[in-house]
Amino acid sequence: MSLRNELDQVHKGPLPHHVAVVMDGNGRWAAARGLPRVEGHRKGGEAAERLIRFVTRETLCEHLTLFAFSTENWERPPEEVEFLMELLGEFLAQKLGELADAGVRVEAIGQHDRLPPVLAEEVRRAEHRTRDNRRLFLHVALSFGGRWSVVEAMRKAVQQSVDGALRPEDVDAACVHRLMPTAGLPDVDLVIRTGGEQRLSNFLLWEAAYAELFFTPVLWPEFDEATFMRAVHAYQGRQRNFGKVLR
Ligand code: FPP
Repeated sequence: MSLRNELDQVHKGPLPHHVAVVMDGNGRWAAARGLPRVEGHRKGGEAAERLIRFVTRETLCEHLTLFAFSTENWERPPEEVEFLMELLGEFLAQKLGELADAGVRVEAIGQHDRLPPVLAEEVRRAEHRTRDNRRLFLHVALSFGGRWSVVEAMRKAVQQSVDGALRPEDVDAACVHRLMPTAGLPDVDLVIRTGGEQRLSNFLLWEAAYAELFFTPVLWPEFDEATFMRAVHAYQGRQRNFGKVLR
């Protein structure tokens, strides 16, 4: 089936509102070609760009979250960390015009205060310029970890409790999410992970509680429109009962 026919087909079914992607396999892609790992990241940046263009053009989801750098990724060799930070800054700087014109709203989730000042500035600029866009909400997870997000909520809850503003009986799931730095981020419907590993690796632990999971051995730099469509097909074939019995 041609990509156009496949698109017509998936548009007849329920589309995921929020897709979150673990872009894994850049290093292996590079190593298989005798290239330095950073070349894999560079190619991975192109794959991310391709995906953003595709989902925006074809209106395949309203929220797209890309796991660009985890709280654990700081442990990588300093040259690799530096390269990734530069790549992400360049991506935002060079693509901001196109993203803004395409109706994409950009937001970074994660530990803003740990980002190098240049990248933090690009993030601020991108968030500000695209704040009124509504076609696609792109969340870039930068120095992000699901546990960090929960810990931040705990910290706020304890502080509010000490201040007398929060009682134990006020705490429910909605309250916890409101206190998390990802407050407002909708539940994830579909998590896609490339690179063959089948785990969440401290991604959106709270928001992905009922997400459908799609794993593919495709390495991130080779992720393309057809692979995304396979993930959406798989999603449409799932029975989502959110723990209940469907009648
Ligand atoms: C995991 O591959 C990938 C990363 C830690 C970085 C992901 C970042 C990008 C693709 C950069 C571009 C992103 C945007 C939003 C422009 P790995 O290095 O763990 O691969 P390996 O498991 O093969 O070693």
